[in-house]
Amino acid sequence: MYIEQTIANVKKQVKEWRAQGLSVGFVPTMGYLHEGHQSLIQRAVEENDKVVVSIFVNPIQFGPKEDLESYPRDLDADCTLCEKTGAAMVFCPEVSEMYGEGFSAYVDMNGVTAELCGKSRPTHFRGVCTVVCKLFNIVTPDRAYFGEKDAQQLAVIRHMVRDLNMNVEVVGCPIVREADGLAKSSRNTYLSPEERKAALVLSRSIQAGKAMIQAGEKNGDRVLEEMCRILSEEPLAKIDYVEMVRWDSIEIHHQADVPVLVAIAVYIGTTRLIDNFILE
Ligand code: PAF
Repeated sequence: MYIEQTIANVKKQVKEWRAQGLSVGFVPTMGYLHEGHQSLIQRAVEENDKVVVSIFVNPIQFGPKEDLESYPRDLDADCTLCEKTGAAMVFCPEVSEMYGEGFSAYVDMNGVTAELCGKSRPTHFRGVCTVVCKLFNIVTPDRAYFGEKDAQQLAVIRHMVRDLNMNVEVVGCPIVREADGLAKSSRNTYLSPEERKAALVLSRSIQAGKAMIQAGEKNGDRVLEEMCRILSEEPLAKIDYVEMVRWDSIEIHHQADVPVLVAIAVYIGTTRLIDNFILE
């Protein structure tokens, strides 16, 4: 497996693969990889001749008071996981390689970024779209793989690719959970043992909301009310948002009568966790 730090080397290698008629899959990550990321890499390996994984903690998608400095990092373990899972290349650039002096071009999205995490983290998706656009230009993948845990991110990337006519197929992959239901996340490592137990309230609330809709409840407000009730029973949990939106446009929606995303963001202590379910 190649481990590359420069854009030039990635482009050179991808060009060689292209010349051999090989397809390229791409999994963008911020590292500290877990089974959720691994499932994306596995799927990419199944569907493409070569798979590139990027590992880059992207500073411009963090707000000024967020966890950029403390974000967990372990490049050696990440490379081992990528190699074991069948990736052909890890691209792990320095910040200066991605954002050289005088960097001034950004990709900004409206509409689809207005609610949920876009509302709580106003500069987040500008940072995500900018880095993903750059990575797509560097790797030029046929397919790119994103987890449904970051459901709004997946929707935003799909809109970006459509609106900017990018030649890449965006593939969404299901949430991977711990045995007790907690959605896998690199940020779970921030939780103390007590908070780790408290964090299960997210998946409990998600399961309850999903079960209500599956049992025939169409009224979104009633579903969200019940989910909030469950979350408020946990003293360590502080709700950021609990919302139902249209899955295609991420607009607030009150009826489960079209494909909907029900998404939550909850602080457990100082750690902000997200979870969701999608009903197509
Ligand atoms: O989902 C993530 O890990 C990041 O937002 C991404 C897509 C790698 C962009 O930095």
